[in-house]
Amino acid sequence: SPGLVPRVDLADLRVAVSTGGTREPIDPVRYLGNRSSGRQGAALALDAAGRGAEVTLVAAHVDDGVLTEASTHPRVQIVRVSTAAELEAAMTDAAATADVVAMVAAVADYRVAAVSHTKLRKEDGVPRLELTTNPDILAGLVAARRPGQTIVGFAAETADSDAELADRGRRKAQRKGVDLLVVNRVGWESGFESPDNRVLILDAAGDAVGEASGTKRAVATAVWDAVAALRAPH
Ligand code: CTP
Ligand code: CA
Repeated sequence: SPGLVPRVDLADLRVAVSTGGTREPIDPVRYLGNRSSGRQGAALALDAAGRGAEVTLVAAHVDDGVLTEASTHPRVQIVRVSTAAELEAAMTDAAATADVVAMVAAVADYRVAAVSHTKLRKEDGVPRLELTTNPDILAGLVAARRPGQTIVGFAAETADSDAELADRGRRKAQRKGVDLLVVNRVGWESGFESPDNRVLILDAAGDAVGEASGTKRAVATAVWDAVAALRAPH
């Protein structure tokens, strides 16, 4: 039956996906981090590989077990990183040969300007952490875009309503220069550790071209459907 035939509509595509949260060191034992679990990026990598793509999954810090399935998939290569600077180097490298790039990672916008090489101690008083801006990795990838390369960004936004979410998404899509921006709503209770997700898929102009909810794998399928539709000859 047709339902049992695997779809290989991404065969011959090279895909680079980033996932997880970066950690920016404060001192040898502390860091600035975020709540990203890495699940959505891992689901994207697995779905693409299942559809025939060759995938490089650049994984920053992820929850336990999130990379287990990807690590045994013959078409997924995992590159582990920690900081935004390491993620930038690995994604720049992977993007140089990729047909599709998806920046799912939660990249720290700031890092500590002067990392202490000894542990900060209470006796030294309350530390005043000076921060400096990390490079916008996605912006760099967009600037270096290869001919025919499709670039997908992700944005987790807090918003009081679906209308505010769509509005924030539209403005970010237009600002980022990506081909697709996948927007989801996050809050104290939703978005990160959860196995489920609900997203809006926007095109470069910020118009909705897809919507998905359910498991992160179902969301991944919708994202690759949107990528395939965008890349289809018309
Ligand atoms: N991103 C990136 N490098 C950064 C920050 C973000 O590549 N230093 C990428 C993320 O991986 C994501 C996209 O940019 O694909 C949007 O991230 P987001 O945090 O929503 O956008 P920012 O431009 O950082 O805006 P803000 O955090 O102020 O909403
Ligand atoms: Ca940000």
